[in-house]
Amino acid sequence: MKRNKNISFTYKEFDKAEDLAKADLELLNSAKKASENAYAPYSGFMVGAALRLESGKIITGANVENAAFPSGICAERNAISNASANYPGDKPVALAIAAYSENNHSPEPVSPCGNCRQVIAEEELRNRKKIRIIMGGKSKIRLVESGGDLLPLQFNSNSLKVNPRK
Ligand code: THU
Repeated sequence: MKRNKNISFTYKEFDKAEDLAKADLELLNSAKKASENAYAPYSGFMVGAALRLESGKIITGANVENAAFPSGICAERNAISNASANYPGDKPVALAIAAYSENNHSPEPVSPCGNCRQVIAEEELRNRKKIRIIMGGKSKIRLVESGGDLLPLQFNSNSLKVNPRK
């Protein structure tokens, strides 16, 4: 028996940051500011992320690269780890991302990498709360209502339950 299945999701695009809701615009501006603290001597791609917690608090992160390339960390995971370690229980509700290189802000919306998608998905699952992702770009801004939308058929803690009786 063969079944054809389909997964789709809806996302929004904005022509300019000012078209975002006020709180999302504030978050994106925080991400832009955070990108100034990036340490990216190898790629020259300076990324900032800003995570809004349920309390309204904004936690930021930037990418921190390393001569041993895989030891570097992305801005998104930097912000998420910071929030998780320092504000336990305060659940993330939105994450904005922005980047620039050679003094120009990225024209295209900055999309979280696969590793970061995996970490965002785990945050959503453990908190039972969707995280809105705001991908900043100079020419457009993309908004997804749940990070999980970016990782269909994801591997997560449920996947580890090989024997459901355990
Ligand atoms: N990077 C991020 O920090 N976030 C993203 O969403 C994309 C990529 C970083 C990793 C690396 O330091 C540099 O950008 C180039 O890939």
